[in-house]
Amino acid sequence: MEFSFKETLLYVENLSVAYDGNVIIKDISLTEKDVVRSGVNATGQVIAIVGRSGRGKSTFFRALTGLVPLHTGKILIKDFESNDPAAAKEAKEGDIGLVNQKYTLFRHKTVLQTLKYALRKSTLSETDKDKKIKEYIHKWGLENCADKYPNELSGGQRQRTAIIEQLFSSDKFIVLDEPFSGLDVGNIEEVKQSFDLLCTLSEYNTVIFSTHDIELALRLAQSVYVIGYPTINGDKKDYGTIIAKYDLREMGLAWKDYCEKHDKLYDEIVHQMMNS
Ligand SMILES: Nc1ncnc2c1ncn2[C@@H]1O[C@H](COP(=O)(O)OP(=O)(O)OP(=O)(O)O)[C@@H](O)[C@H]1O
Ligand SMILES: [Mg+2]
Repeated sequence: MEFSFKETLLYVENLSVAYDGNVIIKDISLTEKDVVRSGVNATGQVIAIVGRSGRGKSTFFRALTGLVPLHTGKILIKDFESNDPAAAKEAKEGDIGLVNQKYTLFRHKTVLQTLKYALRKSTLSETDKDKKIKEYIHKWGLENCADKYPNELSGGQRQRTAIIEQLFSSDKFIVLDEPFSGLDVGNIEEVKQSFDLLCTLSEYNTVIFSTHDIELALRLAQSVYVIGYPTINGDKKDYGTIIAKYDLREMGLAWKDYCEKHDKLYDEIVHQMMNS
């Protein structure tokens, strides 16, 4: 499949994050560009972050979404308001939406109220907002939940509400921390479909997710990053960093059914993780 890289959407340079003076992640640098494919109208980006427990995936996501201060480094995203395609701006809280592992929602808002609130800045008319909310509630199987509060929802229902809420309120970038954990096969399929939907809505839409399911990462993502403890000059460090990056587009493995080549890469990633 022919494709080409366009302007940079996300640029992370020399990022580190510390809690109480303890450096948790360090030397994180990455560049993700817009991609266009011949014959495909919109190709959003799907990026997977894998790594063993405690290596700093969630911490990295908190940095991306502005929830923890950066110890060093910077995070830039494309400035969609500028006419210059190369214009970038520093990512602020709210620019990149986060769906966390706890699926945090407003305690005193029903599903319907939450989604209405998420669309408050949208330029859609009130009628179109209501239509959009109805459509999503239907697609995500939340009809019986529209008037329920978070404490009346199952984990999966809370998660789906949180995903739609973040899709509605943030612009182009959405980070999902382990969106597939605790879901049944049907829900996993729905989340996959939502990634597809996002990618066809705008070529700039960029989904970044973490998972412990490497096969799912290889099935869904075009870029896969492995976060782990690096070994430098024989010395294993105790902070997380990017120890490997795989661009499935360049490897000819993106936008394809899972095959033997993916399986080989799967083994390589497991090996990387075991040593980090
Ligand atoms: N608020 C905090 N204060 C101090 N240390 C923290 C805090 N949050 C996380 N940590 C520590 O930072 C390290 C990385 O945690 P993080 O949650 O980012 O890992 P993770 O890769 O997301 O793990 P998992 O796969 O289990 O979700 C861990 O050692 C954890 O104990
Ligand atoms: Mg985590």
